Amino acid sequence: MSADIKLTNVSKRYTIRGGADVLALKNVSLEIEAGSIHGIVGQSGAGKSTLIRCLTALEKPTEGEILLGGENLSLLSENELRRQRRRIGMVFQAANLFDSRTALDNVAYPLRVAGENKQTAREKAAELLAVVGLRGREKSYPSQLSGGQRQRVGIARALAANPSVLLCDEPTSALDSETTRQVLALLKDIRERFGVTIIIITHEMEVVRLICDSVSLLEHGQVIESGKIAEVVADPSSRLAHELVPLPAIENHVCADGYVIVDTAFTSHPGIPTGAQLLSIASAMGADVAAGTFESLPNIQVGRLALTVQNEEAKNVIEAFRTRGFHAEVRR
Ligand SMILES: Nc1ncnc2c1ncn2[C@@H]1O[C@H](COP(=O)(O)OP(=O)(O)OP(=O)(O)O)[C@@H](O)[C@H]1O
Ligand SMILES: [Mg+2]
Repeated sequence: MSADIKLTNVSKRYTIRGGADVLALKNVSLEIEAGSIHGIVGQSGAGKSTLIRCLTALEKPTEGEILLGGENLSLLSENELRRQRRRIGMVFQAANLFDSRTALDNVAYPLRVAGENKQTAREKAAELLAVVGLRGREKSYPSQLSGGQRQRVGIARALAANPSVLLCDEPTSALDSETTRQVLALLKDIRERFGVTIIIITHEMEVVRLICDSVSLLEHGQVIESGKIAEVVADPSSRLAHELVPLPAIENHVCADGYVIVDTAFTSHPGIPTGAQLLSIASAMGADVAAGTFESLPNIQVGRLALTVQNEEAKNVIEAFRTRGFHAEVRR
């Protein structure tokens, strides 16, 4: 599939009067496939929101190039930018609804601004409320809705302009885990129905595990790691893999004198009993299982198995795994 969003060497420098400059983005290069869900994770101040503001052309990168649906943002006129911005829907942590307007009017508002007549705007808004599971709540005011329902209204409003890209900045951070799951399922459903490309900024790895196809880790304005989820978790030594599927915790007493812990890992696709292979190698090598983690992500299974191995056997055991294509290393 072609890239819907492509950043090439994007840097953003903020000049602060009387202070030191801030380089909020440094040489960011990133490609996001059309119709995929891409997660951006990183600590506070890493540059996540700056990246989103550059994508909406609310900020101009100091250097570099951003292509959105094939269009180079820096080459567009103000008018063209305004049209381009309409192709982007935004979803925020708090839905930021108008408290004095009903759910229906909140969703109809951007349609009215875009020039739709009142009747059409209300009909479209009602349809969108149905899409997000709020049929029957058209007349409710934000104060009469739960946090999750308000976020659904916010998503319906973001969809009103029929965007090709949905940018979500911490969309579930204010929600409990069950509501988070429901809102994420809704976003996934929206991707299937409308084919939109979704970018989700989040600090919750659970969000990435549940719905992202690919993910990037931002740190001090730089992309440290990036890739499809299956690729990222297949390399257990990567930072993102550690966060997505942590190594199983081991208590000291598990590893007796003369033994070491060997961490092994697998990623498998449906129908291939990779976990069983891993276990049979462990068993053939006389290694015992100390702890394990098995995660089921969309389309793949991921496993981490920590083995206790006699010191002098460690080299052979690791070799046995590696020659069969499995990751294996002594834990330090
Ligand atoms: N308008 C601005 N002027 C000056 N500095 C800014 C501006 N906006 C952001 N910055 C700085 O750029 C850096 C990145 O900020 P940004 O808001 O993109 O981080 P973030 O990853 O979204 O953080 P958070 O998780 O806290 O929302 C920070 O050091 C911030 O102080
Ligand atoms: Mg931010």
